[in-house]
Amino acid sequence: MILVQISDTHVDVSNSLVYGRFNTNTALEKAVSVINAMDPLPDLVLHTGDIASRGNVERYERFRQIVDPLLVPIVLIPGNHDERGALRQVFSGTTMLPSNDEFLHYVIDSFPVRLICCDSVIADETPGELCPTRLSWLSDRLDDAGDQPTIVALHHPPFYSGMTGTSAKGLLRGGLQLAELLTQHPQVVRVLAGHIHRPITTNFGGTIAFSGPTTCYPFGLDMGAERVLNIVNEPPAIAIHLWLADASPTGPGLVSHVLPIGDWDEPVPLLRDGKRVVS
Ligand SMILES: [Fe+2]
Ligand SMILES: [Fe+2]
Repeated sequence: MILVQISDTHVDVSNSLVYGRFNTNTALEKAVSVINAMDPLPDLVLHTGDIASRGNVERYERFRQIVDPLLVPIVLIPGNHDERGALRQVFSGTTMLPSNDEFLHYVIDSFPVRLICCDSVIADETPGELCPTRLSWLSDRLDDAGDQPTIVALHHPPFYSGMTGTSAKGLLRGGLQLAELLTQHPQVVRVLAGHIHRPITTNFGGTIAFSGPTTCYPFGLDMGAERVLNIVNEPPAIAIHLWLADASPTGPGLVSHVLPIGDWDEPVPLLRDGKRVVS
């Protein structure tokens, strides 16, 4: 199973530059081209939230147009820049957001790795939470399929990144309870988040947690006392999570890669069938 994670696409209306500089729509078009050029194609694309720069119907329609050429299915979870009502209006009844609940959470059960997609949004606020209702829903979903390998996805990372400029903007409430839940469910092979606009990996609740890169403007790794959050001129990227059913000698496992997006020089072939092709 190959799962592509895209995140923080911050799509805007046509011909608009976010912060006066970033054409987030063109950036997403490039990500779609990269995904469609993958060989083999992935099974699924997961968007870990902040679909639009500011959620409304017009921007979600624009997003839908941009991802329409994707050759594989895509599913969405909301971020703090998104708006549940507009998301429902554009995506409910589609396979992209299969939820009719008060919260936009759901389970994808059709792959070797089960995907539990959570809604960590607090309306009109930057930080997120998993309230008792959402934690209870997640607990039931984790109990549903005891030992099937599972990914838990949410927009707000439940861990601290060490980036001082973002320290108060992750998961405000429910993080400790989430860690406890995961400790009781060893089938969870990964927690996937977005929101920090750069790839970060850590241990969390007895498993591995990862925040995915953004397809548009990355945040810098600033760890100083001044608590600065910068947008930096690093390449955007997608993450690719490979479920290897037989990753001998360690057995099955989920391997995560980060693929930067840009116009690079042609690759230099080094080996083919294990034999050196350049001297
Ligand atoms: Fe974002
Ligand atoms: Fe966010």
